[in-house]
Amino acid sequence: MSPIPEVMRAAVVRELGSTSAIHVEQVPVPAPGPTDVLVRVLASEVNHVDVFVVTGAYPTPTPFPFVVGRDLVGEIVAAGEGAGSLRVGERVWTNSLGYAGRQGALAEYALVPADRTYRLPAAADPLAAAAVLHTGATAATGLQHRARVGIGDTVLIGGGAGGVGSAAIRIASWAGARVIATARVEDAAWCTALGAQEVLDYRQADLDDRLHEAAPEGVDIFWDTSGHYDLAAATELLAPRGTLLLTAGLATRAQLPVGAFYTRDLTIRGFAMSGLSADELAAAARTVNHLITTDSPVVRATEVVELDGVAGAFERMRAGSVRARLLVRP
Ligand SMILES: NC(=O)c1ccc[n+]([C@@H]2O[C@H](COP(=O)([O-])OP(=O)(O)OC[C@H]3O[C@@H](n4cnc5c(N)ncnc54)[C@H](OP(=O)(O)O)[C@@H]3O)[C@@H](O)[C@H]2O)c1
Repeated sequence: MSPIPEVMRAAVVRELGSTSAIHVEQVPVPAPGPTDVLVRVLASEVNHVDVFVVTGAYPTPTPFPFVVGRDLVGEIVAAGEGAGSLRVGERVWTNSLGYAGRQGALAEYALVPADRTYRLPAAADPLAAAAVLHTGATAATGLQHRARVGIGDTVLIGGGAGGVGSAAIRIASWAGARVIATARVEDAAWCTALGAQEVLDYRQADLDDRLHEAAPEGVDIFWDTSGHYDLAAATELLAPRGTLLLTAGLATRAQLPVGAFYTRDLTIRGFAMSGLSADELAAAARTVNHLITTDSPVVRATEVVELDGVAGAFERMRAGSVRARLLVRP
């Protein structure tokens, strides 16, 4: 293994507010504390949440100069004495960097707390794996740990061809649920391959009627992963005791038909991955490793950018002009 250098290239910001503040700079390679591992980054990713952190839309401690980025796949090059069974040379991943005071992943090296470090399945491709770390963990948390999907449930996944939506279709179908997805017409075959029984075009005018036809007894879980909410329509579609998951739409306001909601014993669960404990993230990581190892892919399209292209990738993500997972090779 080559020696660890003293400095590295990293995508950093020195203030929050704009994606154009991201610059690639030389910064010191951090030294691991007793319960950290130092990882040489093999692959990373740009997610919507990284844009929220950089623009300040999602407030979180960001010590400057702040390395951006949440997810990485890499190889351990040094480990603190309290890093448990993790060893130098092992391939690992995390989706816990770049928020809550932790420096980020878009760099040549990154420090990862040992309890937020997961082993990469043998033979997994680092770039392909990086594409499902955040979205897969979100889908696992929403369906398995919040809504508790089960055999025979009917589940609506809105935005079924997106990152979270694709992983959610796969996980719900693994759980034995009947999945109805919404997506563009051209993505219907993709959603069906993931396990959706029915795919409806989210742009069609009579979508609500079509959803009721597809689920005459209602849906047990309603999750529009894209963050477009008509809570009255969602309430009408939910079966008694159903669960509405909210995970997107930071600035969205919506009106809830209160009587119809509580008289049918419905539940709303909202969560942000940034608020999960290390134990909750580790639980989701087990499902992510299944998504990584499954033979059929769970990511519709990827694009690879170099570290120097990260500011541009963030700006495209902010502008909403990306339909692929944006992977980064440092
Ligand atoms: N709470 C959390 O912890 C958490 C975690 C992860 C993500 N998120 C949030 O979840 C959202 C989705 O993330 P992602 O990574 O899955 O994004 P993504 O890959 O960009 O997917 C979004 C999907 O939504 C679809 N869509 C757009 N407008 C729609 C509409 N009106 N109805 C139904 N679907 C529509 C898009 O379709 P087209 O491809 O046809 O454009 C796309 O497939 C983002 O807002 C992100 O910030 C939250």
